[in-house]
Amino acid sequence: MMGLGENLFKIWRIALMVMSVALLLYGVTSLVVTQIIFKLFCVNNSVKLQHGINLTKRSFISLLISILVMVAPSSVRITTDNTSISKGTFFKSNGNIKSTLKKRNIIFANHQIYTDWVFLWWLSSTSNLAGNIFIILKKSLESIPVFGYGMKNYKFIFLSRKWAQDEIALHNGLGSIDADSRGEGPLSNKKPIHSDPDGKLYWNTADVDKSQYHWPYSLILFPEGTNLSANTRQKSAAYAAKTDKVPFQNVLLPHITGLRTAIQLLKPSLEAVYDITIGYSGVKKEEYGELVYRLPNIFIKGKSPKLVDMHIRAFNVTDIPCDDEEEFTKWLYNVWQEKDDLMETYYKKGSFDLDPELDHSVMGKFEMSPLPFLFTSLFPAIFFSALFGVAYLLFIKR
Ligand SMILES: *[C@@H]1O[C@H](CO)[C@@H](O)[C@H](O)[C@H]1NC(C)=O
Ligand SMILES: *[C@@H]1O[C@H](CO)[C@@H](O)[C@H](O)[C@H]1NC(C)=O
Repeated sequence: MMGLGENLFKIWRIALMVMSVALLLYGVTSLVVTQIIFKLFCVNNSVKLQHGINLTKRSFISLLISILVMVAPSSVRITTDNTSISKGTFFKSNGNIKSTLKKRNIIFANHQIYTDWVFLWWLSSTSNLAGNIFIILKKSLESIPVFGYGMKNYKFIFLSRKWAQDEIALHNGLGSIDADSRGEGPLSNKKPIHSDPDGKLYWNTADVDKSQYHWPYSLILFPEGTNLSANTRQKSAAYAAKTDKVPFQNVLLPHITGLRTAIQLLKPSLEAVYDITIGYSGVKKEEYGELVYRLPNIFIKGKSPKLVDMHIRAFNVTDIPCDDEEEFTKWLYNVWQEKDDLMETYYKKGSFDLDPELDHSVMGKFEMSPLPFLFTSLFPAIFFSALFGVAYLLFIKR
């Protein structure tokens, strides 16, 4: 009889997986169709179009989180650093975690599993920033059919690890995000004040009024550049030996250039830089998150981190020495050392073990309303029904 139970469970998990994949493909296709409809109807109104695209962005994460809730539910525990984040920044409202993060921010974190960014995107959603997320991805992902087109509409930034090209992609991608958020960019019908022969665009940065913001943004970054694994840990250690650095125990050495460039480019509008340390329950010190929570484990075995811990602290942009490479390197290594120590505690105690009086803690479900997704997925249905209706009246009924 036990065999029967086990088999039923397996069949159920496989059915769940097939449903999730189908829902994901259907969902993404309908989001892309919605984007195309918005593009058709807002040709002359870039602001309306941007609101439409942002809606499909919010819908995408709402779809993804709803699928995860179905196949691999998790809880989240958020602790905030008392010295940099005021008490009450994270709170519960109707049972959901909400927050009041700064509306123009960079969020960076340690990288353990491929889907870390889903948790950071969720984190932004608690401050109503789910439609304003920007991610940096490998250039090869740009050419995935349908997905790639959708992500380009999201203005995600694609990098090829060739600095000459990447520098321009970062400069122009982040430059226009910053300009738009200040009302000096393409969405306000402004033109660049200058452009380089190599294609770099420059926007007006005179008279910045930080109280006047137009388009919020949240840029998600992983300075380690890749997820922690036996392989990347070894490479990181070799690099540390070469550059006279001490490798960390629980995180990889961070790369300097990406984060530094991002802070420099967004600086005119940037209000806060958030450093997040993520710990997943069920991962031990000598294990690798990505191996424990591989997609097949999540889908087939229903394995998911029961509790995701996120510790958050904030930096004022003016306190980050980003104009001096050496100072910035020191600063980031310091941040990473503290992250390493936090992770060490996490592996020993199963939490970051902070003073609950000082470091405010909020716990809740990892979930997001499916409504944004359900709402946008109606657009294609309405559009095609209308099209069919017109065709019917014009051609078939005659
Ligand atoms: C940190 O905690 C102390 C003691 O509870 C409190 O007085 C102080 O205002 C807190 N700091 C911030 C930034 O919230
Ligand atoms: C991410 O982690 C997994 C599991 O440890 C590993 O197999 C994979 O190679 C890592 N990814 C990269 C890009 O190194």
